[in-house]
Amino acid sequence: MAVDKSEMLTSIANASSLTELEDLRVAYLGRKGSVTQSLKAIGGMPPSERGEAGKAANALRLEIEAALSAKEGELSRAEVESALSTPMDVTAPGEAPRLGHRHPVSVVLEELVDLFWQMGYQVAEGPEVETEWHNFEALLVGKDHPARDMQDTFYLEEAHLPRTHTSAVQIRYMQEHKGDLPIRIVAPGKVYRNEDEDARHSWSFYQIEGLVVDQGISLSDLKGTLEQMMRGILGENTKVRLRSNYFPYTEPSVEMDATCVICAGSGKLAGKVCHLCSGTGWLELGGAGMVHPQVLRNVGIDPEIYSGFAFGFGPERLAAIKYGVDDVREFWRPNFKFLEQF
Ligand code: PHE
Repeated sequence: MAVDKSEMLTSIANASSLTELEDLRVAYLGRKGSVTQSLKAIGGMPPSERGEAGKAANALRLEIEAALSAKEGELSRAEVESALSTPMDVTAPGEAPRLGHRHPVSVVLEELVDLFWQMGYQVAEGPEVETEWHNFEALLVGKDHPARDMQDTFYLEEAHLPRTHTSAVQIRYMQEHKGDLPIRIVAPGKVYRNEDEDARHSWSFYQIEGLVVDQGISLSDLKGTLEQMMRGILGENTKVRLRSNYFPYTEPSVEMDATCVICAGSGKLAGKVCHLCSGTGWLELGGAGMVHPQVLRNVGIDPEIYSGFAFGFGPERLAAIKYGVDDVREFWRPNFKFLEQF
């Protein structure tokens, strides 16, 4: 095949863009390119001519390659220079960054912490991986206690487990501060349970624990505190009711209910049964009670002198009630459409 070197070099020198140059490279050096073809043709020549022709063809290939890469350098420098010399429009609108905001459960948690802060409480924290002793035994839930069933979880090695409730923080805090009474704390945090998931249950959720230990603390102090808190979070007209319940670590133990936020305690909504409280007029919100004297003894506080109350409830449930969400699992799905509403 006839290959005209000067024609090729002229075309390369005249190439005005990198794409054009790439097309030339393919036309000359590609698999079917003219230079490649002339190299291939050497095999079919009489042996006496092969040496000379081979040398010439190789020299041509090298020369074309060098011309292509020199031109490539020239063209890319020119592209950068022209981009740099184009004036930038600093008034062009930017791309608005997508701003996040606080998660609805964080909002409720912060409101709660704020309410307790105003009542003189400190915020305490404990580890999410607990010892069985802090999570269960010190709270009088022995290895065979049926109450362990309700709070089954994933056991780890050496008597550790992801805590099943924030009540473990009560124990840690009392141990550390028994020489520094009174105690008034709230302890928000995550807890873990072996739970079948549904619209109201999840294997991991938040709790907020409260603990007060002082001289002369009584059940009426507990009720007053819960009332103050529920009014703060659900509205001034909220009423609190305590029902008898059982927890191994409180005596007496109670379940706390607040009047339904939708039907205001009437159980009815536009003549129908209220769907939030199923017509009872009350919402179950959490557990509470007077700290069991033996729990105080376990941490080295004298129950003859001191008494206390404790409570624990779930901010997810409160957030669900406050914002009218009927599936708590929604809170932890990466679903912007849901989260952006708050
Ligand atoms: N720990 C209990 C639970 O998780 C709640 C509770 C806390 C009950 C404090 C009494 C006192 O269900």
